Amino acid sequence: MCGIIGYVGSKQAAPILLEGLSKLEYRGYDSAGIAVFSDDGITVKKSRGRLSVLSEMTDSGTNVSGTVGIGHTRWATHGEPSDVNSHPHLSSSGRFAVVHNGIIENYIPLKKKLMDKGIEFVSETDTEVVAHLFEYYYNGDVIDTMIKVIERVEGSYALGILSLDQPNEFIAVRKASPMIVGLGEGENFIASDVTAILNHTRNIYYLEDDEIVVLRADGVKVYNVDREEVKKEPFQVSWDVSAAEKGGYEHFMMKEIEEQPKALAETINPRIQDGKIVLDDISLTADYVKGINKIYIIACGSAYHVGVVGKYVIEKLCRIPVEAIVASEFRYSDPLITDKDLAIIISQSGETADTLAALKEAKSKGARTIGIVNVVGSAIANASDDVLYTWAGPEIAVATTKAYSTQLSVIYLLSVYMAKLAGRIDDAEYTKLVEEIKRLPELVSGILEKKEQVQYLASKFFNCHSIFFIGRNLDYAVSLEGSLKLKEISYIHSEAYAAGELKHGTISLIENGTLVVALATGDALFDKTVSNIKEVKARGAVVLGLAKADEPHRQDSGDYVIELPRVNELFMPSLAVIPLQLFGYYVASLKGCDIDKPRNLAKSVTVE
Ligand code: F6R
Repeated sequence: MCGIIGYVGSKQAAPILLEGLSKLEYRGYDSAGIAVFSDDGITVKKSRGRLSVLSEMTDSGTNVSGTVGIGHTRWATHGEPSDVNSHPHLSSSGRFAVVHNGIIENYIPLKKKLMDKGIEFVSETDTEVVAHLFEYYYNGDVIDTMIKVIERVEGSYALGILSLDQPNEFIAVRKASPMIVGLGEGENFIASDVTAILNHTRNIYYLEDDEIVVLRADGVKVYNVDREEVKKEPFQVSWDVSAAEKGGYEHFMMKEIEEQPKALAETINPRIQDGKIVLDDISLTADYVKGINKIYIIACGSAYHVGVVGKYVIEKLCRIPVEAIVASEFRYSDPLITDKDLAIIISQSGETADTLAALKEAKSKGARTIGIVNVVGSAIANASDDVLYTWAGPEIAVATTKAYSTQLSVIYLLSVYMAKLAGRIDDAEYTKLVEEIKRLPELVSGILEKKEQVQYLASKFFNCHSIFFIGRNLDYAVSLEGSLKLKEISYIHSEAYAAGELKHGTISLIENGTLVVALATGDALFDKTVSNIKEVKARGAVVLGLAKADEPHRQDSGDYVIELPRVNELFMPSLAVIPLQLFGYYVASLKGCDIDKPRNLAKSVTVE
């Protein structure tokens, strides 16, 4: 939910911290701050508002001198966005400065205990407890102190801490919140995510829960809670620096929309060899698949919408019952999941708190778990029995596009793979389906080439107050995503409805000029959806339809029609979602919204 960074080396720390924070702003952007060792002790600069406010305050970091420091960009949880609630937080004497990503769940009793001892708190944050606890338990040894602190705090944390007595180093730890260590030449880093340090190093350590790391310019030491040194294998990041840069685009979202053919190709192609789906990453057998009682697909937001598509596709191909369920509901529903069931957990970031908790709940009931995850080494990837990575590269825009698309492609591969293993499809059908999945990158590329049509349609409708999305079955699943994409970045109210369900209440909201986006991309249900389109048109709606270019009656699907190429109907969601992403983007752009950083949101939701 927040982004943290730390630097120790021979260069000036503040500009490096600010540059790193600019790559982490997607994680939170309501305030930012840095703490740097300077000749006079620890200098803290922090402010409510975007990182640009802090940049201005520090002259892009040039007026804060020192070569060791930590930084933070915040998405408020405890306490409103304000200067005083911004990180870093100092202990009472100013001896320790702390940046934190996560939630200290037991901060109230800890705060009370410290206040009873006369310690004064200045902010409303949970993090300030850590700063005071550190000072309270400090015995001259930062590792011992860190062990004492993490023994007492509950919840999730990635912490970076400066100690006045150790001006040539800083200490960090993580649990259930992401943090990597970057290993440079004469300089070392911590960061919430590799994109923040890619300009400096590609050599990183992934940290396990409660591994404590002490960073100096000339080396990094990692310890466990028994204070034993842990030997770690560095991991070489292969991402291109440009993957985390805008590269001439006005927004990351458009760059990521355009990257979808490449991301799809990178996710699909290595997994299709000689016409066969190869999922070496998991080890499913025919007997296992045949014996699955039920599949749960568990995720949040857009990743859940992938799950809704997955329900239709897996049930159709494998004839196994599937329930797609949002993680925050699953975890508290006392689910009936058992060891006969399979849980598919979908997450771009791999750190969404509800999804991670749901994964643990599924495992605790004995279910096998497969993670579909984008961020390598993330908590969900680590905790899943098997992982199928999406190879989308870093996704920076808060509204997901390429991660959604690559997640869909993995669901297709897995569905066809399981259907074949279980003998539910024959060789001929299998070959055809595999061929169709292979076509997706090129088909998506063709749709993107016609994006001006969507831009034109957006210019007609960007002043709407409310927009409905309707569709049946897979089209309904894509409607959910189209509606979310639009509302989260343009702030236009929108709802997605199963087309046949509208007349059971919601149709009363349709009035003259209401825009309804109608997806009618399926052959079998085309006429049924057209009937629903007629119902809303009869009540004054203007309809923007999506239909296949070779559908003879496609003009019946709307007053304006976006035509899509034909692919096996099960995979149409990959094509239909593209104009909807573009529509959301262009509407938000015409409304002058902050597309990459929509209000109130953050990219990784590490709180429940
Ligand atoms: C919407 C969006 C969110 C995420 C959701 C889950 O555009 O991006 O709805 O899909 O917060 O995040 P991950 O996939 O990281 O678990």
